[in-house]
Amino acid sequence: MTAANVRIPDDIAATLVDPQAYAGDRIHDAYCWLRANNPLGVAEPEGFDPFWVVTRHADIFEVSRQNMLFHNGDRPTTLVSKVGDANARAITGGSPHLVRSLVQMDEPDHRKYRALTTAWFSPRNVRALEDEIRAMARNAVDRMAAAGGACDFVAAVALGYPLRVIMRILGVPDSDEPRMLALTQDIFGTQEPEKQAQVAALPPEIQAQLFAAIIADLTGYFGAINADRRRNPRDDVASIIANATIDGQPICEKEATGYYTIIATAGHDTTSSSLATGIAALAENPALFAQMKAAPGLIPGFVEEAIRWATPVKTFMRSATEDTELAGRKIAKGDWLMLCYASGNRDEAVFDQPFEFRPDRPATKNIAFGYGAHLCLGQHLARLELRIFMEELLPRLSSIALDGPVDMIASCFVNGPRHLPVRYSMA
Ligand code: HEM
Repeated sequence: MTAANVRIPDDIAATLVDPQAYAGDRIHDAYCWLRANNPLGVAEPEGFDPFWVVTRHADIFEVSRQNMLFHNGDRPTTLVSKVGDANARAITGGSPHLVRSLVQMDEPDHRKYRALTTAWFSPRNVRALEDEIRAMARNAVDRMAAAGGACDFVAAVALGYPLRVIMRILGVPDSDEPRMLALTQDIFGTQEPEKQAQVAALPPEIQAQLFAAIIADLTGYFGAINADRRRNPRDDVASIIANATIDGQPICEKEATGYYTIIATAGHDTTSSSLATGIAALAENPALFAQMKAAPGLIPGFVEEAIRWATPVKTFMRSATEDTELAGRKIAKGDWLMLCYASGNRDEAVFDQPFEFRPDRPATKNIAFGYGAHLCLGQHLARLELRIFMEELLPRLSSIALDGPVDMIASCFVNGPRHLPVRYSMA
């Protein structure tokens, strides 16, 4: 039984596991209450194992910094119900992880696998892609112009542009984009809770068969790319993965597939959501639009603020490897913790007026990319994509406004606008 001062009230605990709460302001109301009243408490929502809820920026930072103490590998790294966890373990034969990628690894493997592509994703290396990415951004802005003054920004631009960039870095031909998108969406299931519930309701053995078919598809698809890059290495990430060795051995098929899959998935929805959120802020706020038109030098600050504002990765989970103490609370070995990045990024202790969108904010610690060992590998690429897009769009845009309600994806993991209807005029 959790002590009364530690336990989070049931209604707030239920909000934390309700995907619909993340589609509106309800989740931020809960986070504000938690930061003020119980910033490190235990949630015991029905159907879920209890977990610590880490809502303050400083505590998220502390947990992320100490990755040996707060592991990724032992328990699910994303929020899943008891049934979801049991199903995953039934499918995999005991592991809570359906795929094994960087996100599920701990030391010593994590460091070795991450080191393979760290240099490729460095600021200097991704800057070398600037001309190619600019051509893709220009193309996307042209599509907006061709749409004739109104579009759903998500469908017209935000989904396609980052996907094109990811496909380029993986070396997947443009013609395979629809297949790639379908494969990577299959692996994580759709974001929509109804679809997730449909799959979760199937018997574990049927889920296992479905999952095995998806893995076979992914392994087949990326296996062919892997084999090709061994014969014909290029300047893409696929060539690095295909020709990599760990402890003197080529990386095995399962880990190679996991590597391709994490890059293909982690770099897509997150960047799309941040871009769409930035455009929504411009469309909702004429003063912000005027400010950006008058001072395009603010674009890097705008990009940083759009990513903070969106914080598209809402949560990741960790588990404690030892009994320990954090912010005055006693955490036991094996306890599960929820890192609430979207709460950390609205923490009043770190951000002045956190609920205002300010492109001219002084540089602060944006926690949207996480921190520590698992700090987002693609952060420099994501910033570059957003900056280049804004540099291409802003000079051509003379006005922009919302053309209907913004419809948000309901998910406790990654979310952002599902539809963003905008009206605009362009030169
Ligand atoms: C990990 C956010 C774009 C690749 C992560 C994590 C977060 C995150 C929160 C986990 C950190 C943790 O567990 O502590 C974002 C956001 C993005 C973005 C907000 C866009 C605005 C990208 C892009 C790529 C990428 C463009 C690659 C093309 C990865 C990979 C990891 C990761 C490979 C796993 C790193 C590891 O576990 O060592 N990202 N990401 N991300 N991200 Fe991103």
